[in-house]
Amino acid sequence: MEASRRDFISLGIGLLGAAGGVAALYPLVRAMLEPSKIAALGAVVEVDISNLQPMQVRVTSWKGKTTFVIRLPEDFKADDYKLKEGALNSKGTTNYEILKGHPVFALVGICTHLGCIPLWKPQGEEASGGKPTFHCPCHGGYYTPYGDVIAGPPPRPLFIPPQKLEGNKLIIGEKGFVQELI
Ligand code: FES
Repeated sequence: MEASRRDFISLGIGLLGAAGGVAALYPLVRAMLEPSKIAALGAVVEVDISNLQPMQVRVTSWKGKTTFVIRLPEDFKADDYKLKEGALNSKGTTNYEILKGHPVFALVGICTHLGCIPLWKPQGEEASGGKPTFHCPCHGGYYTPYGDVIAGPPPRPLFIPPQKLEGNKLIIGEKGFVQELI
């Protein structure tokens, strides 16, 4: 009788312990199951843009990935770039459609072909019609300053991280004028 009572108490303690362990792991498991939650756990990077000049790119890192912060002149014309057909972002649009009206923004600086880091060429290249471009030298990928594909093998534009502008700070990783990774 005494033995079965002890067993019962041990079983109860065991179950409580297991329940506590599951409860502690729950947020982690939940985050693993929901990609949006994983994104929310990521780093937030604040970039001071007060000294960023038009056509200048600052390189930073977001979630361990090279990230470009660029300022374009207010009157920058993106319409006269000839874009590669069908190379659209996860919203099914060009990056320009997402970013127009925002002279300062961040792009993930990793080529969407095989992951090289594109070079910023504000003076332009032949393939970009002499207009400012991000050039990926690995296999000849060219992007507009908005990260849309001009030429070469990249299948889609550069990724746009969630971001918001607060005074002179661009906050990468927080929902603002871009709400999610696109
Ligand atoms: S990795 Fe950039 S073009 Fe291939």
